Amino acid sequence: MNRRYRKTIIAGNWKMNKTASETRALIEELKPLLAKAKWCDVVLCVPFVDISAAIKAAKGSKIAIGAQNMHFEKSGAFTGEVSADMLTDLGVKYAIIGHSERRQYFNETDETVNKKVIKALEAGLRPIVCVGESIEQRDQGVTMDNIRMQVKIALKGVAAKELKKVVFAYEPIWAIGTGRTATSSQANEVCEGVRTCLRELYGARAARSVTIQYGGSMNAKNAAELLAQTDIDGGLIGGASLKAADFTQIVEAANQ
Ligand code: PGA
Repeated sequence: MNRRYRKTIIAGNWKMNKTASETRALIEELKPLLAKAKWCDVVLCVPFVDISAAIKAAKGSKIAIGAQNMHFEKSGAFTGEVSADMLTDLGVKYAIIGHSERRQYFNETDETVNKKVIKALEAGLRPIVCVGESIEQRDQGVTMDNIRMQVKIALKGVAAKELKKVVFAYEPIWAIGTGRTATSSQANEVCEGVRTCLRELYGARAARSVTIQYGGSMNAKNAAELLAQTDIDGGLIGGASLKAADFTQIVEAANQ
């Protein structure tokens, strides 16, 4: 973390978990626990159908609500999809874009990620752009080449003044939901690499103000060490965000 230049953001990615009533219950449980979290922003990215309940439950707290996806068109004949304007109208502040599960199961590509990033920014949503390598890419020594390509394509057409609204989440695919976390130095190395890429594209000042999260089996036990790294400015947390006690401990680690 480097609080001098950028905000620490802890975001929960609930994935396809929790009904609306369970959403209400978990947020009510989290609210008093997170009240002291002064030094970081807290976001919960919930399923679309839980958004209204989440916004209502989180009212008056420091929890912001995010979506897990959105469509890149403004409106139209896209059955089953949700637009950025629909999200902002409900009070949604963030949207995860290009999560590896969406790339893997729903054919999202770097190009669709780019279109979504542009649309999210236009609508006033902060995109949390996920990048990450497979275990094969890591073994072949092309981790950074792959990440740099993902970052560059995601940002095509994004103006310098918009960059600080973009959050990156470095999520090695082999660490997601596997209990196998990247070591703090592996994670920091790639987050630093993302920042180097941003510096080349937008200059040093812009690059240092961007929040870069780590995600992939981050939990109550390993959060403090990961967050102590120079270029890891928060976390995108799946499994451990579904339990109030675990998520609270991660937020507390970000407040140290
Ligand atoms: P995990 O998921 O914390 O359960 O590994 C992280 C993510 O997919 O964002």
